[in-house]
Amino acid sequence: MPFILPELPYDKSSFGNLISVETFDFHHGKHHKAYVDKTNGLIADDAGLSGASLSDVITTAQAKGNMALFNNAAQIWNHSFYWQCLTPEKQTPSGELKTMIDEGFGSLENLLAKFKEEAVGHFASGWAWLIVEGGKLKITSLHDADTPLVHEMKPLLTIDVWEHAYYIDYRNARPDYVDALLANAINWEFVAENLDGQGVSRADQS
Ligand SMILES: [Fe+2]
Repeated sequence: MPFILPELPYDKSSFGNLISVETFDFHHGKHHKAYVDKTNGLIADDAGLSGASLSDVITTAQAKGNMALFNNAAQIWNHSFYWQCLTPEKQTPSGELKTMIDEGFGSLENLLAKFKEEAVGHFASGWAWLIVEGGKLKITSLHDADTPLVHEMKPLLTIDVWEHAYYIDYRNARPDYVDALLANAINWEFVAENLDGQGVSRADQS
């Protein structure tokens, strides 16, 4: 079965000016779709990967040094995860996640400030991540298509900092894009589900 472009988990008009319909049309409908189409084309040339899950394709492609396949498959997964990190309904962390944030960063405000610093400071294309590493929350960023799936990292939250994620709505103002999403559009329920891996598996497909 070829991989598919997953449906967005919300109506693409529900974010108003935070994320425009035009951005979703291009980012999901064209960029994300292109990664799906390219991955399916590359897998058609590798019978050994027939029927493999997306996460298995990503790890196998990296192990084989097939970077074209790795980049496209990892971008499918990263984008599927990213869409689920967003919600049009403003949320705040609670429960175990809130406790971990307070213990690791002192407060949600401190976490968001450090996340913004990482996302804005990341040079060129890539992804800013909140992860669990060694049992602790940590903020990091990865370049291009690189993904926590091939590192000893449990991903909780990501923001896409490729220019295609924000150029339509925010032009070159990456800080404004990051600020807007962090303040208004983070699905903290999904972030909390990732503490035990529930959300991570929802970004996979086979
Ligand atoms: Fe993207």
